[in-house]
Amino acid sequence: MEMRCSLLVVVSTALLLLRLSVVMVTAGGAREADQHGRRGSALQDEKTFCSWRCLMFTLQWPGGFCLSLNNQSLCRIPPSVNGWTIHGLWPQTQSCCRCWPMFPSDVQELEEELSEEWPSLLKSRTSFTFWREEWQKHGSTAACVEGLNSPLRYFQICLKLRAQLDIQRFLEDAGITPSCDQPYQVEDVRRVLAPHLGDHPEIQCITDEQGRQVWFQVKIPLSRNLTVGCDSHAEAGGGFWEKSALDSSTSPGHPCPSKEPFYYVPIEHQQPFRPCG
Ligand SMILES: *[C@@H]1O[C@H](CO)[C@@H](O)[C@H](O)[C@H]1NC(C)=O
Ligand SMILES: *[C@@H]1O[C@H](CO)[C@@H](O)[C@H](O)[C@H]1NC(C)=O
Repeated sequence: MEMRCSLLVVVSTALLLLRLSVVMVTAGGAREADQHGRRGSALQDEKTFCSWRCLMFTLQWPGGFCLSLNNQSLCRIPPSVNGWTIHGLWPQTQSCCRCWPMFPSDVQELEEELSEEWPSLLKSRTSFTFWREEWQKHGSTAACVEGLNSPLRYFQICLKLRAQLDIQRFLEDAGITPSCDQPYQVEDVRRVLAPHLGDHPEIQCITDEQGRQVWFQVKIPLSRNLTVGCDSHAEAGGGFWEKSALDSSTSPGHPCPSKEPFYYVPIEHQQPFRPCG
């Protein structure tokens, strides 16, 4: 009697489990289908947005940057900033999404260093706003690569690259220093930078009010694995240089002309928009 009773319990428990598992399988099935759906579109996104091969690491020279602004009184160069600063690290593709929010706490531990190496040079924009714009527009697309897949990692890598690509020192070692009087030839600068930045950095100038060429930016192509140089022609469909040409139509800069000397103006903290008095 006791045994039958416990058998009954076992059987009914088994039935209950069976029924439960049917429910679970059904729910699981629905969940899985849902996941497949999402996984499907995520795969599609990954194909579209994660297939980039090259990145552009862009550094700006604060002295020249201030002269690139329409309203030069908007410019400020923090006292601690005395060298090339980061503009951004840009995968060469369209932006995948702007829906990955970033908060000050994400980069809190880097804040001091970022403020020095990646300051906003606009009075109207805080440095954090600049970082967040760069993360949302470019960083979230770079996040396809392990090691770049969070704001903290992305900014850490950018700081590492900045330390490694010390343009000012490379130039200084070759006797090329900021000057109001001494113009330079783009070919000389290219030759000095080639061992460090590869053969194809874009050396960008703006034309100042006196019609002189002023150096303000360098775009350094990197491969997906962050080594300097990227063979854009190996990319299926090409488009890398075309796209960057398109980009430059909205930016004030242009390649420094090879036939005209250009100025590498000093950083003037008090009057950043009048570096040469
Ligand atoms: C330039 O910016 C300053 C500071 O924001 C402003 O006061 C001034 O009106 C601006 N000038 C022009 C021409 O937009
Ligand atoms: C990085 O990628 C480039 C291009 O794909 C390749 O030629 C190079 O060997 C890679 N370097 C390292 C260290 O993996």
